[in-house]
Amino acid sequence: MRVLVVGGGGREHALVWAIAASPLLTKLFCAPGNPGIAELCDCMPIGQTDIAALVAFAQANKIDLVVPGPEAALVAGITDAMAAAGIACFGPTAAAAALEGSKAFTKEVADAAGVPTATWARFTDPASARDHVRSHGAPIVIKADGLAAGKGVVVAATEAEALLAITDFMETGTLGGAGAELVIEECLVGEEISFFALCDGTNAIPLGAAQDHKRAFDGDVGPNTGGMGAYSPTPRFTPALEDEVMARIIRPTLAEMSRRGTPFRGILYAGLMLTGAGPKLIEYNVRFGDPECQCLMLRLQSDLLAALVAAQEGELANFALRWHDRHAIAVVMAAEGYPTSPRRGTSIGGLDLVAQMVGVQVFHAGTAMRDGQLIADGGRVLAVCATGKTLGSARTAAYTAVDTIDWPEGFCRRDIGWRALAP
Ligand code: AMP
Ligand code: GLY
Repeated sequence: MRVLVVGGGGREHALVWAIAASPLLTKLFCAPGNPGIAELCDCMPIGQTDIAALVAFAQANKIDLVVPGPEAALVAGITDAMAAAGIACFGPTAAAAALEGSKAFTKEVADAAGVPTATWARFTDPASARDHVRSHGAPIVIKADGLAAGKGVVVAATEAEALLAITDFMETGTLGGAGAELVIEECLVGEEISFFALCDGTNAIPLGAAQDHKRAFDGDVGPNTGGMGAYSPTPRFTPALEDEVMARIIRPTLAEMSRRGTPFRGILYAGLMLTGAGPKLIEYNVRFGDPECQCLMLRLQSDLLAALVAAQEGELANFALRWHDRHAIAVVMAAEGYPTSPRRGTSIGGLDLVAQMVGVQVFHAGTAMRDGQLIADGGRVLAVCATGKTLGSARTAAYTAVDTIDWPEGFCRRDIGWRALAP
């Protein structure tokens, strides 16, 4: 098979790494890729949302399967455009990608499917949004309806904070068009888990759970980020809980999407809150998480490409995946200043030494090559990953690798995995 992966972050490096090992593969491309990915396949300088150019490339290069990593490409309709050109693309259509693109849409689907989720209401004018907050009180959650790169959610501890978010999103327009409509939700309390399911439109199989660390600094403080680290498996997500999530959340959602004529094929990423009243859906994403994907790929024993093909062809009913009996962890190294203003252009060394460490794998995100030297060229720059018989040993290996990397201008959290490792 000739495969094209779309994207250029740590998630896509991990996907390329897994697909490169497939016996089904004859040729692998990535667009746009990054220097780490370039060690494994040909990288093409095509932007991840330049759909017309990606279709033209796929046609010219006889691509058998396109694997988009980021939501932007999916929401922009890459799957539809590839299908129109007769090219298989593993991921939801733009209509089905609305599960990530619109929070109100997700809530409507969840309600119609009977999926447990926070109670909610939708607003298009600030006055009624404010009335709602005043009558419900805090804590309360204010969400911009559209895609807002992680900046569209305010978990307001006080009424004043909630009212300020309404003003910012709807009147000041801090998020542009994404804030024109709001969803206001009940605040859920519990532990947050990322759960992934591989879906073929009708059937779904679990890809396991991971826990992300969204805040920039140790102890879960500081600004929200794309994710500073992850680990998998997660001790609180037992097999019984997984069965419950498949039965009460994932399968009813797939059935409802099919009923609406927009079946969901691809990776369904459920952000879950493990509350006292059972697991509840916080949100859906329509792709792998980053850095959760890096952990899942290190644990997956089966051929990823075969699984993606089975999902693409609607044949997951009798498909099963095998997993390594080991723990995986990802520690993100970010450029100082991330997430607000990451410093670019600083040199990174020591990756040659890390490459010799057993059980350690570094995935590149925001890196670039300048005159033969690897440099930081983004916010999240590296995902330093390791596996081990226990989470503790995986974590020790990952931080040993972090300490071997010579990049004084980078930083990471030192407490990835703390919830699972706490006594
Ligand atoms: P989202 O973009 O919907 O994932 O929201 C970002 C973060 O806000 C989530 O990862 C949660 O930590 C938090 N959050 C969102 N919705 C709720 C809710 N209803 N209750 C509590 N926390 C929430
Ligand atoms: N790590 C969270 C995400 O990918 O959205």
